[in-house]
Amino acid sequence: MCGIMGYVGPAEAAPILIDGLQRLEYRGYDSAGIAVHDGSVVTIRKAEGKLERLVALLAESPPSGSTGIGHTRWATHGPPTDFNAHPHTDPAGDIAVVHNGIIENFLALREELGEKGSRFTSDTDTEILAHLIADEYEEDLLEAVRRAVRRAEGAYALVAMSRKEPGRIVAVRMISPLIIGLGEGETFLASDIPAILHRTRRILVIENGEIVDITADGVRIETLAGAPVARETLEISWNAEQAEKGGYPHFMIKEIFEQPDVITETLSGRIRGSSDVALEGVGFPEGFVAGLDKIWITACGTAYHAGLVGKEIFERKLRIPVDVVYAHELRYRDPIIRPNSLTIAISQSGETADTLAAAELAKGRGSRLLAITNVVGSTLSRISDDVLYTRAGPEIAVASTKAYLAMLIGEYLLTVRMGRDLGRYTDAESAEMIDGLRHLPQAAEEVLGRSEDIARLAEGFAGADDVYFLGRGVDYAVAMEGSLKMKEISYIHSEAMPAGELKHGTLALVTRGTPVVTVLTQRYVYDKTVSAIMEVKARGAHTIAVAYDDDGNAAKHADEVVRIPRVPDSLSPVLSAIPLQLLAYYVAVARGHDIDQPRNLAKSVTVE
Ligand code: AGP
Repeated sequence: MCGIMGYVGPAEAAPILIDGLQRLEYRGYDSAGIAVHDGSVVTIRKAEGKLERLVALLAESPPSGSTGIGHTRWATHGPPTDFNAHPHTDPAGDIAVVHNGIIENFLALREELGEKGSRFTSDTDTEILAHLIADEYEEDLLEAVRRAVRRAEGAYALVAMSRKEPGRIVAVRMISPLIIGLGEGETFLASDIPAILHRTRRILVIENGEIVDITADGVRIETLAGAPVARETLEISWNAEQAEKGGYPHFMIKEIFEQPDVITETLSGRIRGSSDVALEGVGFPEGFVAGLDKIWITACGTAYHAGLVGKEIFERKLRIPVDVVYAHELRYRDPIIRPNSLTIAISQSGETADTLAAAELAKGRGSRLLAITNVVGSTLSRISDDVLYTRAGPEIAVASTKAYLAMLIGEYLLTVRMGRDLGRYTDAESAEMIDGLRHLPQAAEEVLGRSEDIARLAEGFAGADDVYFLGRGVDYAVAMEGSLKMKEISYIHSEAMPAGELKHGTLALVTRGTPVVTVLTQRYVYDKTVSAIMEVKARGAHTIAVAYDDDGNAAKHADEVVRIPRVPDSLSPVLSAIPLQLLAYYVAVARGHDIDQPRNLAKSVTVE
């Protein structure tokens, strides 16, 4: 997630901007820059890499000025380079812009502005905004920004400065967060509270669809339609560490609650109209999908569990055989991987040694390599023929949550894309799938709204020695992920298995009070899965089912039912995984464990 800073006041802006950006470093980034207005000119300094490179650049020729904007970029459009770093300006250098998020229609705007003679120096959607504001500028920055953003679509936060208007910053929030800090004779702007908490605790939160006019004397907030907005000033009592976690006690729970926005961001800019999908970075040659005999999926851990979901949806819709193989297994086998195959390597970090080795092996045997990864410019992204970036932002907690959901969204988008290439989706069918995807952020919010119920449920697990997770089809794939979450942060032994496998041995382990969690959403195997619940209940297990809101039957068989909104069965993993993430989290909290850095584990296993 990018970091944004702004300052208007009596002090030199550059040191304040850098200090604020440094306090946002935990968010992860791959380039940084600032723009400073000295009353007559706007000076830009920006560089790829970490802030120390920018600081060194500034030391050579420190820009003077008391109005400024700054940015740390987590690359989405265009690799991390000096020229892709923010701020960006229009050709005349009159307008400087920093931006967080995605401008969905930036290609159309780029073409439209190009026809008017605009020339661009970067691969970014942000540069389009600078040109757009300059194109709309007459004599008032606020009105120019207002008119410009009416032409831009997407989820973003935008901050602009004009050479002609020193002492003024204008910002707009469309989903990506923005806050204002009110100082004495100075005003701060940031994408997150930690950047400015040491300067002021008086904060104004900017809401979606609002535009703010910032000067040293304070701020004026309006809706984009022009209606003035009165906003209560908050007095923030957090310490710095609490502020980095957005007030949450741990990064993991913060990231679990970020998931609705992550779904929105990962979908953003990739849906065309009501029934089509466009995946920048995925460029299958004409006829490639039709010529596929096989799809391989390779990954580790949570990413592997995302691949298990992918197998179910790819095979069901594309009717192409799919093998999902742990990367640490695939790399040492002599797999029969042939050229007319697609290998999907899934990795949040894009640096997992086993996954990289398996990906290279598949590529070496002529398979086309597609990466689903969260890190732009990661090793996996650079060795792949195609890249589908998840947009979960930096995932700090070792236990992966939001990146997992983003991987699933990536697989659904790929299914629609490939399904349409194969003619397996009518417009109506792909429209239905896309409509289902569009509703997921709201449905995920509803599940998160029930977190208190999960916290109460977790109390019954804290003393457990073993927990079992069951499911069939994609419910089994989710059970696998729920089991891993439980193991890796609560340290309780846990096992997931297909519900039908229980009677072939593991049932011997079930005794009085053994907690057994069953994911129960798939209509085609519903009764069979209920049978598994009855099997373990007959042996005294404490049974918990994850079921749809309107499932009137689950409560007849399970001791407890965790509810999720009904969605098309193929999309249910995006929702049914959330209660299992929360369950593991609350059990681990009850057991007093280190949540974000669990023992023995690393965030990215870059060694074998
Ligand atoms: C999941 O919570 C763990 N952090 C771990 O299983 C992880 O998913 C696995 O190491 C793969 O990491 P990657 O996605 O970065 O390749």
